[in-house]
Amino acid sequence: MRIGIVLCAAGLGERSGLPYPKQFFEIQGKPLWLWALRPLLELDARVVPVIVLPANQVENARSIVPDETIRLAAGGPTRTASVRSGLALLAGERLDLVLVHDGARPCLESSLLAPLLKEARTFGAATLGVFVRDALKEVHGLTIVRDIPRDGLCFIQTPQAFLPETLHRAHAFAKEKGIEDAPDDAHLVGLLGKEVRVVRGSPFNLKVTYPEDFAFASRYLLA
Ligand code: CTP
Ligand code: MG
Repeated sequence: MRIGIVLCAAGLGERSGLPYPKQFFEIQGKPLWLWALRPLLELDARVVPVIVLPANQVENARSIVPDETIRLAAGGPTRTASVRSGLALLAGERLDLVLVHDGARPCLESSLLAPLLKEARTFGAATLGVFVRDALKEVHGLTIVRDIPRDGLCFIQTPQAFLPETLHRAHAFAKEKGIEDAPDDAHLVGLLGKEVRVVRGSPFNLKVTYPEDFAFASRYLLA
């Protein structure tokens, strides 16, 4: 099996409280994006990885990536644009699946990947997700205004896996419609009217977002 990988690591990380983009935070001397990439490189398949980085970091990254065949792309102003840049470097490749993962999710366990890939090959599109476990409420200011039944509500994670043609079509459609700030790629595939399946993710597969998340990721990865 040949699997294309788009690792999106070109955001600004504005909620992180760091003076630089969060995906460059280092744990044991390695940036978060490299931790995020690692389980994907260990897949039992031929992988074709593309890492999407801020334009001014592409040069530096060359000396950090573990393999010179890894492709590097400059990102865009939104995640959607960044994934599109990555996909451009996979155009013309013969691939069975394309996997899109956030560079800010360094704690992905490789055991989650096989079921995701299987589901994507069967249904065309699949994502990791975890069902909401806490009570869920709408809050205005800091006041609760109503309860939201949590049945069937899911936190969607990455990686997300797609048949290449489906993902390329979804991004072409988004571009045509001027949709630049989709929350994820599953959303864009959904706009094509295609089914996207959810495969069990993990609460540890956190997207490092807020200042306190760095300590979580460090403890998890160094445990
Ligand atoms: N991302 C990207 N290009 C962008 C925006 C986001 O590649 N223009 C990537 C981020 O680097 C991250 C992933 O998409 O790995 C998920 O996005 P998010 O957690 O929102 O990261 P940021 O946009 O960087 O953070 P913030 O929203 O706090 O600014
Ligand atoms: Mg963002």
